[in-house]
Amino acid sequence: MIKHANQVALHDDTPMPAAPADNLVVEEHIAPAPRVSVQAFCETVETAAAVQAAGEDRRLGKAHVKIQMGGSAAAVEAYRASPTPNVIIIEAENRADTILARLDQLAEVCDAGTRVIVVGRINDVTLYRDYLIAPIGTIDIVRSICGLFTSPEAKPVGRIVAVVGAKGGVGASTVAHNIAWAIARDLALDSVVTDLDLAFGTAGLDYNQDPPQGIADAVFSPDRIDTNFVDRLLSKCTDHLSLLAAPATLERVYDFGPEAFDSILDSLRASIPCIILDVPHIWSSWTKRLLVSADDILVVAGPDLANLRNAKNMVDLLRAARPNDHHPHYCLNQVGVPKRPEIAPADFAKALEAQPLAVIPFEPQLFGTAANNGQMIAEVSASHKTTEMFLQLAQVLTGRAEAKRARGGLLSPLLAMMKRAG
Ligand SMILES: Nc1ncnc2c1ncn2[C@@H]1O[C@H](COP(=O)(O)OP(=O)(O)OP(=O)(O)O)[C@@H](O)[C@H]1O
Ligand SMILES: [Mg+2]
Repeated sequence: MIKHANQVALHDDTPMPAAPADNLVVEEHIAPAPRVSVQAFCETVETAAAVQAAGEDRRLGKAHVKIQMGGSAAAVEAYRASPTPNVIIIEAENRADTILARLDQLAEVCDAGTRVIVVGRINDVTLYRDYLIAPIGTIDIVRSICGLFTSPEAKPVGRIVAVVGAKGGVGASTVAHNIAWAIARDLALDSVVTDLDLAFGTAGLDYNQDPPQGIADAVFSPDRIDTNFVDRLLSKCTDHLSLLAAPATLERVYDFGPEAFDSILDSLRASIPCIILDVPHIWSSWTKRLLVSADDILVVAGPDLANLRNAKNMVDLLRAARPNDHHPHYCLNQVGVPKRPEIAPADFAKALEAQPLAVIPFEPQLFGTAANNGQMIAEVSASHKTTEMFLQLAQVLTGRAEAKRARGGLLSPLLAMMKRAG
């Protein structure tokens, strides 16, 4: 008999159309499934389409998903002679007793360890109550499959936040490091900053660390990666913050394949709640993969035309590649350089169809002091408004707060006026 715990029934009694990304709960965090085989036996094209879309979700990127029609009867037939995959999805439009009989038949041909997900038309709890025919949402299938492989002991599962610049030198690394610092200090979440700019990365300088080992050791010896090995690569910056530093040496070149960072990130994700990726401004197979597969993305842009174009292209591409996720976030940085003509946050909001998470002012004295002393902005000036902005970004990116309208920078005089008037 197939164990009941292995069955996840997706009931149709709560109609859930394929949820648009913005309806997702911020806190929802679905850890990706490992390299498993999934075979679905559908009865309706709607469910087949939802499973197909689920198979294309980033979290099922490693899984092999095969779909055929014919429901439970076809499944029983298919596995009489051939081995069963890791997961079987059965859509059952039949009466409940027929479904149960078929599941028993299936159990006889199932290999041990095969999990079965039932997409039901019948509400199990009050059987025969109603027969709602509504499509199953893609994200429900993603959640069910991934849920089978997340053991409760493996929690908390790390959430990956990728930070990238729309152009070089816009301050993406500075923003990433300050956000990570706020996550660790103010939210007390164990965090790791992974500096992926192997040749020129500045995380070591910014945190005043010069560790002998770091990300290069992980990426050049993927076979050695286990928790102990990774622990030795991390250098501790503060109570809750560690760094996987870039070597920032040029003897080697850093051309990687798309999956180069998969095993180090899987390992970090297993034990560290928050992983901040400092992604360099390069468009390559591995940077693209890191961005597409992150749980959240922050694009940092400066207020000029090239940044606007690039940010829009990145946001558009990432939205399309992640249809079941939150939209990527963006913030503006180095806003308000004296005498420089700039593109207004409102124009960014229009082009990117979203408000920036923050509008960070250009403060050369403050940021220059922090950079040259190996300090964070909060250490240089705890009461500065940018310190509060980094905290707010930290809260939103860890799901602790909803994205608020951008504050500060060009908007702040307006806000101040409104406050005075109020
Ligand atoms: N809001 C700001 N005001 C003033 N200076 C800033 C601000 N943000 C960042 N900087 C400065 O800009 C410089 C570039 O920052 P940073 O290295 O973080 O950019 P980046 O986008 O990561 O660059 P790269 O493309 O080289 O990775 C640094 O000297 C940093 O101190
Ligand atoms: Mg950088």
